[in-house]
Amino acid sequence: MNQTIIELETLRKEYRSGEISVAALQGVSLTIAENEFIAIMGPSGSGKSTLMNILGCLDQPTSGCYRLGGREVSTMSDDDLAAVRNRDIGFVFQSFHLLPRLNIVRNVMLPLKYSDIDLVEARKRACDMLARVNLENRLDHVPNELSGGQRQRVAIARALVNRPKIIFADEPTGNLDSKTSVEIMELFSELHRAGQTIILVTHEPEIAEYAQKVIHMRDGKIEKVEVNASRPM
Ligand SMILES: Nc1ncnc2c1ncn2[C@@H]1O[C@H](COP(=O)(O)OP(=O)(O)O)[C@@H](O)[C@H]1O
Ligand SMILES: [Mg+2]
Repeated sequence: MNQTIIELETLRKEYRSGEISVAALQGVSLTIAENEFIAIMGPSGSGKSTLMNILGCLDQPTSGCYRLGGREVSTMSDDDLAAVRNRDIGFVFQSFHLLPRLNIVRNVMLPLKYSDIDLVEARKRACDMLARVNLENRLDHVPNELSGGQRQRVAIARALVNRPKIIFADEPTGNLDSKTSVEIMELFSELHRAGQTIILVTHEPEIAEYAQKVIHMRDGKIEKVEVNASRPM
């Protein structure tokens, strides 16, 4: 069994604005090991993005424990958190979040800006990652010269360029047609086989099928955890 990378204990998240408060997470406990491929599913409003944002250290829970790689996240300083987000975590979003004026090499190099890697090495790493997602022939292109699937592959290359411990993807195929979605999921599967830990949010069962384990959320709680027998752990 691989080492535990994520541990959540009775995590709660309340959003407050004035008199109104929304209990978005209502006691979520969960353990994820290195090299697991997890899908989080559930209806709109069930807390999936809230959970992802906390797991990705973009937001803090109202109460409960979150240990990432054995460290309690709530005790980390802002600098620690920024370092963890930059070095240990890669993010992939539904709407790609690429910078339109930069070519794709520059886009993929962005996360390396705050590391001590020099420009030559950074460019080389970005090009290697773009080759890994089969975009080595598009290096000079800017995002709007590419298809949706190609843009998402650039975003995946950017998420990987720092060699993160975990990739978080929130509805990564939400803006893609079904054929392109399959290509993107095949890419995630390949990364998983190469050892990557992947946590992905989707509301599509066909996408969740690629994961080893599906966490079903409802009303801010884990309703059930389903193990996918056709994707061995
Ligand atoms: N920034 C916020 N402020 C207030 N309420 C929020 C905020 N973000 C999410 N919520 C509420 O928290 C609940 C869970 O939302 P979310 O995590 O986005 O669900 P999902 O991603 O599953 O659709 C919803 O009721 C939503 O309206
Ligand atoms: Mg969401």
